[in-house]
Amino acid sequence: MNLETVTFRRETPGDYAEVETLIREAFWNRYAPGCVEHYLARALRQSPDFVPELDILAEADGRIIGSILYSHARILLDSGGELPVLSFGPLAVLPACQGCGVGARLIAHTLALAREAGWRAVLIYGDPEYYSRQGFVPAETYRIGTPDNQYMGPLQAYELYPGALANAAGRLTESSAFEVDESAAQAFDLQFSPKPKEEGNAAQKRFLETLAMRKPRN
Ligand SMILES: CC(C)(COP(=O)(O)OP(=O)(O)OC[C@H]1O[C@@H](n2cnc3c(N)ncnc32)[C@H](O)[C@@H]1OP(=O)(O)O)[C@@H](O)C(=O)NCCC(=O)NCCS
Repeated sequence: MNLETVTFRRETPGDYAEVETLIREAFWNRYAPGCVEHYLARALRQSPDFVPELDILAEADGRIIGSILYSHARILLDSGGELPVLSFGPLAVLPACQGCGVGARLIAHTLALAREAGWRAVLIYGDPEYYSRQGFVPAETYRIGTPDNQYMGPLQAYELYPGALANAAGRLTESSAFEVDESAAQAFDLQFSPKPKEEGNAAQKRFLETLAMRKPRN
């Protein structure tokens, strides 16, 4: 894969089906048997928290090879009030094109767009090994925790300008679209070609390890 040939553009409704198939291919059996992220993308696009200007695709040779979707999130500040921030996910690269830097480029490209649009920061849940390489730091650095008041390894933050999260101690609340209705997701999946589900693979074990990286936030 020649990274020089990769271009980025906004997703349009005409891309939805292809992108959902791509997301399903990327996430299938990755964090659980099967996946729900293609349904999550559908739900996010219909949510008031969706950020259309940061709904970006990567293309190479006229084919969609990557996708990232952003949504509004909030930090419920310990000092009272709320701070609007961004979150992203699903982030997906076509399996055949993974490991060539497309994911890193999609992140860097959209962080630059978010900065230009005047956003403060991006907070996400993901594997710290991957996101620390993309410039993210543990959200604990800024005393930001989960809704149930934990510091969690996968919860990571990226300031879009220096000091953006200096007074942001609090708890992150993401879009309610992330609360996926499992039965609706399973029904949605029936529209796609059947794929075998796998349980207990190395990626799923690593995911469980990252979930266990947590401690109470005092
Ligand atoms: C995560 C993903 C978007 C990264 O895109 P990519 O184009 O493959 O990533 P890059 O080429 O920028 O980086 C690849 C490197 O990251 C590593 N990596 C990829 N996903 C990782 C993960 N979840 N955890 C830890 N490391 C990961 C790869 O092993 C590779 O390491 P190497 O450079 O030492 O070989 C892509 O692998 C993907 O679609 N994965 C399935 C869906 C997913 O997990 N999405 C993210 C959810 S938070």
